[in-house]
Order: sequence, then C-alpha cells, then structure tokens
Amino acid sequence: MAGRMNHRFRNHGALLAVTVICLGVSAASGPGATAADRLSIVSAYLCLFLLGVALAIGPANAIRKGKALVNVYARRDTGIWAALNGLLHFFLANVLAMNYEYLGIYVENAPVPPSVPVREALYLWGTILGYVIAVLFIMLMGLSNDWMVRKVGLKWWKRLQRASYAAFIFTCAHAFMFQVLETRAAVWVVVVALVTVLIIAGQGLGIAAIRKLRDGKPRAVEPARG
Ligand code: HEM
Repeated sequence: MAGRMNHRFRNHGALLAVTVICLGVSAASGPGATAADRLSIVSAYLCLFLLGVALAIGPANAIRKGKALVNVYARRDTGIWAALNGLLHFFLANVLAMNYEYLGIYVENAPVPPSVPVREALYLWGTILGYVIAVLFIMLMGLSNDWMVRKVGLKWWKRLQRASYAAFIFTCAHAFMFQVLETRAAVWVVVVALVTVLIIAGQGLGIAAIRKLRDGKPRAVEPARG
C-alpha cells in the first residue's frame, strides 16, 4: 500500500514537473504572440502527447506480456494530466478564439485558402469537438480514482474508460481543423499526423498481440458424443 502511494506520488510529481516546465518556458519566451497564446498552444500539445502516452501504455504492455491491462496507475495518472492540460487549453482557447476578432482574422477575412464556407465549417466543427472533448475529459477525470472503480464495478469502469479513445480521435481531428484555420507550419501538421498514426497503429498491434496469445492457448477438449 505505502509502496503504491509512493509510486503514485512519483508519477504525479514527474507529470507536474513536466507541465510546469513546459508551460513556464512557454509563458516566459516565444515568438511574437502573447503569453496566453503560447500557453494555449503548449497546453494543447501537452494534452495531445500525454493522452498519446496514456493510450500507448496498454498496447506496449500487451506486446511485451501478451495480456490486456485493466487498471494501471501510470496510465490513469498520465490521463489525468492530459485532461488537466486539455482543460487549461479549453479555458484559454475560449477566451482567445471565441470572439469576433478571431472570426474576422481566421474565418471571414483570411487572405489564404480554403474558402470562407469551408473555414466556417472548420471553425464550427472544431469548436463543437473541443466542447465534446472537454465533457469527456471531465467524465474521465471523475472516473479516475479507486472509489469510482469500486462504485461502478471493473467491467463498466473499463467500458466507460474507452471514452478516452474517442477523446484522442476528436483531439486529433480538432487539432487538424485549427491547423488549417491558422495555416500552421507543415512541421506541426506532421507532428500531429505522426502522433495520430503511431497511437492508432499501437492499438492495432496491441490487439493483435492479445489475440495471438489467446489463440495460441490450448482450448478445452470437447467431450466425445454418442
Ligand atoms: C479540451 C478540449 C480541447 C482539446 C484537447 C484541444 C486540443 C487542441 C490541440 C491539440 C491543438 C493543437 C493544434 C495546433 O494548433 O497546431 C489545438 C489548437 C487550437 N484549439 Fe483546441 N482543443 C480543445 C478545445 C478547444 C476549444 C473549445 C476551442 C475554442 C474555439 C479551441 C480552439 C483552438 C485554437 C484556436 C487552436 C489553435 C492554436 C491556439 O491558438 O491555441 N480548442 N487544440
């Protein structure tokens, strides 16, 4: 019990340190944009990367040990910090991007393609996805404790936790939409694409590893009839 608590303190300490360092450096430096702009984008990327790490822990274990994990503290703790960073970005992005100034610059009067109707659709759906992700994060954070595991039971807890896959896919789609709107440099588009592909491929490999081990196990022999 004490060992487990120490382990979790270390997890949260490390994740807190990573978050504070990244946000602190971004607030204090950076090109042109305001500190709020930088914090918004750095917290968004921290959220994406930590969510990716949380979702990669299961497949990595499945590939190494050939079995599915149900309730792992490292995965839960990383997920909590992904959600906290995501919600910080959610708050800042609402202040920075839900106003006429942002609409004017990036949606209605942008001097580069795509066209205004396409930009309007990207902004609308990107924002809707942002709100859906925030709701999923709040639900997932509420679930991320031992009391909730006992309350809802392991089977349902695991089912509800699968919302994290939807949160990840929605985050990637949302990121691409705002990258188009803000004509983000190609390197960042490639970063988001790489994270998306790696995590989806990791899930596929993890599922394949579990199936392989399960199919390799000797099955119970059917009793002879007749
Ligand atoms: C918890 C929910 C959200 C998550 C996880 C999330 C995630 C992300 C990610 C990963 C990016 C990086 C893409 C890039 O710009 O290169 C991004 C960018 C952006 N998001 Fe979100 N987002 C969320 C909610 C929202 C909401 C509600 C809005 C409001 C309109 C929004 C507005 C933006 C904007 C304007 C950008 C461009 C960069 C910036 O100024 O921060 N996001 N988001």
